[in-house]
Amino acid sequence: MTNNNKFPSLAIVGATGAVGKVCLDILAEKNYPAEKIKLFASERSAGKKISYNENDLIVYEADKNSFKESNVVFISADSEVSLYLAPAAVNSGALVIDDGSAFRMKKNVPLVVPEVNEDDIDFHEGIISIPNCTTTPLVMALDQLRKLSKIRRVHASTYQAVSGSGSLAVAELRDQTENILNNKEISKFVYPHQIAFSLIPQVDDFMEDWYTKEEHKMINETKKILHDYDLSISVTCVRVPVFYCHSEVVSVDFEEDVDVQEVVSLFSESDGIKLIGNGKNENYPTPSMVEGEDDIFIGRIRKDLSNNKGINFWLVSDNLRKGAALNAIQIMESAIKLGKIPNFDS
Ligand SMILES: NC(=O)c1ccc[n+]([C@@H]2O[C@H](COP(=O)([O-])OP(=O)(O)OC[C@H]3O[C@@H](n4cnc5c(N)ncnc54)[C@H](OP(=O)(O)O)[C@@H]3O)[C@@H](O)[C@H]2O)c1
Repeated sequence: MTNNNKFPSLAIVGATGAVGKVCLDILAEKNYPAEKIKLFASERSAGKKISYNENDLIVYEADKNSFKESNVVFISADSEVSLYLAPAAVNSGALVIDDGSAFRMKKNVPLVVPEVNEDDIDFHEGIISIPNCTTTPLVMALDQLRKLSKIRRVHASTYQAVSGSGSLAVAELRDQTENILNNKEISKFVYPHQIAFSLIPQVDDFMEDWYTKEEHKMINETKKILHDYDLSISVTCVRVPVFYCHSEVVSVDFEEDVDVQEVVSLFSESDGIKLIGNGKNENYPTPSMVEGEDDIFIGRIRKDLSNNKGINFWLVSDNLRKGAALNAIQIMESAIKLGKIPNFDS
């Protein structure tokens, strides 16, 4: 990695957050040159230093003029920040890769998981979104399964780690756990109920139809990424007292009979998917095994006992890596390959 012209100049907005930190870890693993990275966060973090491959990178307060020298701007902050800063970044000639939900369902914004719909990058007009961290592993699995038979119906239940709600939620689970073990009062800032030693069957706010926004995001994003707006899909999202990695139980009904062995063979050969176990013993993926891994992990594949054209399986993926930072970096790599970064020739 000697020719620095091969690397787009990056701005990372939200560099001090849960996703921003993992984004820097992954760039460091890839030896991305420090001089090509500029870090941004809110005014609270301005002046902080973050160490990166033996360099100290300074964090600047992000504003609309921050991106004049950037080819690619990763935004990992909340939706208001994306809505405020992304148009300015596009106007200054950069490609924005946004981790939040602000633009995901907009017609002119590709929503991309490179293993599934890399070609959608082609129609970007300056902004590309990454999906919700539960949608990404689900579409990777469904995209493979639809090669076996048309999918008639999908149901997924999630078991989502607290890091999916950002670094404050990680602190909340840690503090509640310590306090409960020491017989002290607990505080709640992020979640409406105690999360330590419990479960919360609510992720994000409720909507008119009694589903939550997170459940709607998974449903709508899955249809958009798979280009299958008729897909019949329902979802229940649950927050669990796990720090890192989201898990899902997925049931898929097909039009035709599908053999479990075919599913096993298909997943074993799919890019970005690791299959664990043979379904007969205690060998299957768990969140603690998958933390820090790039692939999504699948196990416990079996026939649905209530429907002989259905299968059930378990999947686990690192929400901060493939669910967020890694997917964003892979989108940038695909955009470089496809020549879709404005003002940048590799
Ligand atoms: N966590 C996940 O698993 C996951 C997965 C997929 C997508 N996402 C999305 O990624 C985004 C970030 O999530 P996160 O989990 O990393 O959250 P987080 O840990 O709470 O971090 C938020 C980041 O945003 C920065 N920020 C806040 N206000 C800002 C402002 N006005 N200008 C610039 N930066 C500002 C914060 O900087 P300060 O430190 O200065 O406050 C911090 O760096 C969210 O949109 C989330 O939906 C998260």
